[in-house]
Amino acid sequence: MEIRPARLEDAAQIASIYNYEVLNSTVTLEIDPRTTHQQERWIARHSGVHQALVAIDHDEIIGYASLSSYKLRAGYNTTVEDSIYLHHSHRRRGTGKLLLVRLLEIAAVSGFHTCIARIVVGNVASIELHKSVGFRTIGIEKEVGRKFSKWLDVVVMQKMLN
Ligand SMILES: CC(C)(COP(=O)(O)OP(=O)(O)OC[C@H]1O[C@@H](n2cnc3c(N)ncnc32)[C@H](O)[C@@H]1OP(=O)(O)O)[C@@H](O)C(=O)NCCC(=O)NCCS
Repeated sequence: MEIRPARLEDAAQIASIYNYEVLNSTVTLEIDPRTTHQQERWIARHSGVHQALVAIDHDEIIGYASLSSYKLRAGYNTTVEDSIYLHHSHRRRGTGKLLLVRLLEIAAVSGFHTCIARIVVGNVASIELHKSVGFRTIGIEKEVGRKFSKWLDVVVMQKMLN
């Protein structure tokens, strides 16, 4: 298992992992699958402090995780939001935790003060994963999402970094 920063050539595999959730689940509120070109642009944006990491097993990308700005206004610049996706056939083997721990180390070293995770209520795997690395629930946003004709609540979790 290798974890390294995402590269442009990873775009198709990352998009494939993400698009599976776009099309089959409510863990992301995105509705339209990403093209490889859109994913390349996403990777280009996720370098430097807002980094994206990939987990590689036997030359295959089996998961990725990223940091994004929490909000665009300058006063929020010391906060980041994380995102993490594992290929559906490579879950529950510790890779998500490994990626998230590494990502939070990068966020801390980069000087971010705190990290937010926004998770659709009912996504037990992600809520438990975040709890396992020290996030705690700070609130619920009621019916802020809608997908597959259902209203969705979002749980907001937070971990202090520095
Ligand atoms: C959430 C996700 C990233 C977890 O990745 P993973 O590699 O399967 O998780 P890990 O094996 O590292 O699990 C770490 C801990 O998380 C918790 N966890 C993970 N999956 C769980 C599940 N299905 N049910 C309950 N707890 C779970 C456990 O505490 C686990 O520790 P343990 O195995 O020692 O009990 C993965 O399920 C996923 O990609 N889901 C779809 C995409 C998604 O929901 N992304 C997050 C959007 S907010």
